[in-house]
Amino acid sequence: MRVKALLYPLIFLAISLTNGETDSFLPEEFSQEPKKGENEQQELLHHPNWLAPFVPTPFTVVKAILKLANVRENDLVYDLGSGDGRIIIMAAQNFHARAVGIEFDETLCQKATSAIKQLRLHERVKVIQGDIFNQNVSPATVVTVYLLPKSLEKVVPMLEKQLNKGTRVVTVDGQIQGWTWIRKRQVKDKARAVPYNLYLYQVGVFR
Ligand SMILES: C[S@@+](CC[C@H](N)C(=O)[O-])C[C@H]1O[C@@H](n2cnc3c(N)ncnc32)[C@H](O)[C@@H]1O
Repeated sequence: MRVKALLYPLIFLAISLTNGETDSFLPEEFSQEPKKGENEQQELLHHPNWLAPFVPTPFTVVKAILKLANVRENDLVYDLGSGDGRIIIMAAQNFHARAVGIEFDETLCQKATSAIKQLRLHERVKVIQGDIFNQNVSPATVVTVYLLPKSLEKVVPMLEKQLNKGTRVVTVDGQIQGWTWIRKRQVKDKARAVPYNLYLYQVGVFR
């Protein structure tokens, strides 16, 4: 159990190789790589509901996720495991939507909240510090999920129970078993050797 908890993030980090992002719209200190110690998430690794380490999605891929979901001004985007807030911030800043992030990690929540404040997006974007499994995500019109594939399976029952018909769901690098995606996109980014696979689903629309 302990070995798995250490091994998963290492594998996840190894395939992601995230570095060198330049397409940032965020305050300068925000776009830098996590400082030593900031990303260790040691306590969270052993939490039974821990679903993935913090591996930020490159900004080019964030943009592709939001485009794939066709995010518009009247959307409410929920990012499950919102990390430093980059998806919810871009949803508001570039796509004019409202957005909510749910994030376990206190440091990441603080970082996101501070960027939201600096960018004066606090009326449209918020971060909830807490466990995805304890939240009501039913108001969402768009949900984004970048978690370990095994973890994705765990959140699906919650999505099936709570989401309204028509809600768009975009997953990164993992398909939802038993659902049929309606669009798929591959996005290359210099940060990673293999492309990112994005899948768009719509609740109640199975092809
Ligand atoms: C792969 S990162 C994705 C971050 C962000 N969505 C992005 O795409 O840049 C997954 C995030 O989920 C968070 N997380 C893991 N388990 C969680 C849980 N049960 N509730 C809330 N957040 C969780 C981690 O702390 C991490 O920041």
